[in-house]
Amino acid sequence: MWKTSTLTRKLLITHQRSTRLHAKSFFQPTATYATVQNTLYKHHSYGGLKDEDRIFTNLYSKHDFRLKGALKRGDWYKTKEILLKGHEWILQEIKTSGLRGRGGAGFPTGLKWSFMNKPPDGRPRYLVVNADEGEPGTCKDREIMRGDPHKLVEGCLVAGRAMNANAAYIYVRGEFYNEASNLQEAINESYAAGLIGKNACGSGYDFDVYVHRGAGAYICGEETALIESLEGKQGKPRLKPPFPADVGVFGCPTTVANVETVAVAPIICRRGGSWFASFGREKNSGTKLYCISGHVDYPTTVEEEMSIPLKELIERHCGGVRGGWDNLLGIIPGGSSVPVLPKHICDDVLMDFDALRDVQSGLGTAAVIVMDKSTDIVAAISRLSAFYKHESCGQCTPCREGTTWLMNMMKRFEQGYAASREIDMIEELTKQIEGHTICALGDAAAWPIQGLIRHFRPELEARIKAYWETHPKEELSKLATASPGL
Ligand SMILES: Cc1cc2nc3c(=O)[nH]c(=O)nc-3n(C[C@H](O)[C@H](O)[C@H](O)COP(=O)(O)O)c2cc1C
Ligand code: SF4
Repeated sequence: MWKTSTLTRKLLITHQRSTRLHAKSFFQPTATYATVQNTLYKHHSYGGLKDEDRIFTNLYSKHDFRLKGALKRGDWYKTKEILLKGHEWILQEIKTSGLRGRGGAGFPTGLKWSFMNKPPDGRPRYLVVNADEGEPGTCKDREIMRGDPHKLVEGCLVAGRAMNANAAYIYVRGEFYNEASNLQEAINESYAAGLIGKNACGSGYDFDVYVHRGAGAYICGEETALIESLEGKQGKPRLKPPFPADVGVFGCPTTVANVETVAVAPIICRRGGSWFASFGREKNSGTKLYCISGHVDYPTTVEEEMSIPLKELIERHCGGVRGGWDNLLGIIPGGSSVPVLPKHICDDVLMDFDALRDVQSGLGTAAVIVMDKSTDIVAAISRLSAFYKHESCGQCTPCREGTTWLMNMMKRFEQGYAASREIDMIEELTKQIEGHTICALGDAAAWPIQGLIRHFRPELEARIKAYWETHPKEELSKLATASPGL
């Protein structure tokens, strides 16, 4: 019995490999594979992406980023044919691929892009590419723009065609000078080669691409703040509705999409949506750029299969946790906004949207921040609270006032200068902020603290106890005066 199942597994793996190779040929009628592949992949363990399945083949800028190099890597191959297939075909491939937005929220991309295709009303339509990449720990979009900018430019054209957009604006974080410069070079080359602009790729479709450089504010990564900033105003989020697909940049239908989301669109169309869907778990499909930083031997940004186990990701690509896996304290798995996970959860959690949501954290931007046992976890989370306080745009009271409270309380928690019941108070405060603000920055400020309390409460309590063992109790009454209600 055991022998049979091993044999079956081997056969399945061989079949998966050949199916992936088949899917490589352009415009293969992949629809017939979809169900078979999806069923097959439930049986294999995730991770160990092969070079032949990598989308971003110049992530480390080892090769020429210009058009000549991009063509060698397969970019701009039969783009005209993709455009001529029309928006419904492109949208269907994106839907089949199961692609979910790579900017943090993980909304299904095909569905989101389809909101743009309403009957024409005379207004132009825009694709806005979010290249703000302000989330602490995240360093993937910059690698795409620096090493593989043609993937993004071609992605703009294909995504733009899917939405019948007239132009794309790529909003690049101000500090990314080299990235914006390489991207502009790629755009210039694309215009010169007739790939974009009037009659893009000879398809009859006109499409312009512009770069807009921001000034480095984190809040300008939020889609409506980004739109405001693009219009020349202060980057302050708008109330929704109306949603950008109805009223976006310059009052026109707009979709804001992350760099990685847009850059994978052409290859999904070339190799087929079901090829992309063959990676990762159901509803969490595709390959993904993971950015791993902190206490690992080799921090890196790497493309891997979705749903790869967190431990494997770190051990395979980063040389493991500094001092060994047992020296791990905790990991923030998806950029600074998502709750930290303690070691026992990191031991076997999978890196995808649903698995991380199930353990009360999130995939976010897939920026994995590793902290070993030398980390002062309270100080680490306190530093994030200072970041969110600094980046709040100040429009809504729970965020403006709440982030300041959180920062001040967290600073005291670092030393233990607090009353034990303030742990519950700060948790309650995070709940008063979460879900009560115009944009998700309020949630982003709340979640790291909730994660800290959920998993490291004994650390907070011990710190408070230690403080009062070495300080006079009279200070407690001063604290009560400073924080009425204690
Ligand atoms: C405070 C804040 C900052 C954000 N920063 C970014 C960012 O730098 N890049 C990004 O792609 N999305 C960012 N987002 C998410 C965007 O609002 C938006 O959801 C995303 O760009 C949509 O792209 P996607 O559908 O491809 O994921 C941010 C959201 C918030 C609330
Ligand atoms: S939640 Fe914060 S950052 Fe977002 S709009 Fe309100 S005040 Fe501004």
